[in-house]
Amino acid sequence: MLPHLPEKLVWQFSKRYIAGETMEDGIAVARQLNAEGIEVTMDLLGEFISNLQQAEANKNNYLELIDRFTSEKIKGNFSLKPTMFGLLLDQEVCYQHLRAIVQKAKDCNSFVRVDMEDSQCVDPELDIFKRLKKEFSGYVGLVVQAYLRRTFNDIMDLNKLPANGHPLNFRLCKGIYIEPAEIAYKEYQSVRDHYIEDLEFMLRHQIYVGIATHDKYLVEQALELIKRYRVSKDLYEFQMLYGVTPDLRKSIVEQGHRMRVYVPFGKDWFGYSTRRLKENPKMANHIIKALFFR
Ligand code: FDA
Repeated sequence: MLPHLPEKLVWQFSKRYIAGETMEDGIAVARQLNAEGIEVTMDLLGEFISNLQQAEANKNNYLELIDRFTSEKIKGNFSLKPTMFGLLLDQEVCYQHLRAIVQKAKDCNSFVRVDMEDSQCVDPELDIFKRLKKEFSGYVGLVVQAYLRRTFNDIMDLNKLPANGHPLNFRLCKGIYIEPAEIAYKEYQSVRDHYIEDLEFMLRHQIYVGIATHDKYLVEQALELIKRYRVSKDLYEFQMLYGVTPDLRKSIVEQGHRMRVYVPFGKDWFGYSTRRLKENPKMANHIIKALFFR
């Protein structure tokens, strides 16, 4: 258990990883990254809601953000967490909010990625994704987590969906939530091995993949697979979190691969940071590093 953490201390750690509290802060960071040849995916913070008015407000904020990106010609797309739109309160309301956001993205020729949350959310998030994919094929994608025992089967199952003119579009990550051993692989190398197995399947089946990792070993393995299968540059990209491993990020960009940075912003930065710390106590090491090795 982590002790109660004062807001000031958490901010010291978080400011490297969060664009700021406002939409303006998010947009400023997006512009900066665009200037370095990097695209973004924007994440409005605020996962846990207690009523559907908050879900509605979150939807409106995303709609405004998509408008701002379009009118200001910022290169990027949008990531969202279904729990912010009421997934755990009313799944149909959540679906309708996501549908409105993806419709907006389609109207603006943009793209929305549905983040994957903890294991209780996986089935409802898969259901919502399948419905959205049917209607908005090229404008919506999903995150899959290599640490889940079920993931390889889920990928194969999703690969059977009718293409509707566009390949599937996944972000592949290790997975951040603490899950029991019956549900998730726990051993570090085993998660890596499954990550590579999932990635190889995607690259061999022309599924678009956002290779989301800061693990140098996985980046090297991914580059090998891309070479081995002669994967076209328009079928993959690398993805990293804002503020994490900027040197590795730079070296990938310099080798000519597309890079997208996940940019979280919003008033709920405190909740976001402390939840991340509770979910993954390893992050506490990053706090200490950020505080003492600045
Ligand atoms: P690993 O954790 O082994 O990290 C490798 C190295 O990177 C570490 O040794 C450290 O140096 C550095 N590092 C990693 N994370 C860091 C951090 N936060 N601060 C400082 N240094 C850090 N998860 C999920 O469950 N659902 C989701 O939707 C997403 N979405 C998502 C989007 C994007 C763009 C990324 C990059 C990641 C996610 N994740 C996620 C999180 C993901 O599942 C995973 O927890 C983290 O990326 C850490 O795993 P790595 O593969 O980077 O390896």
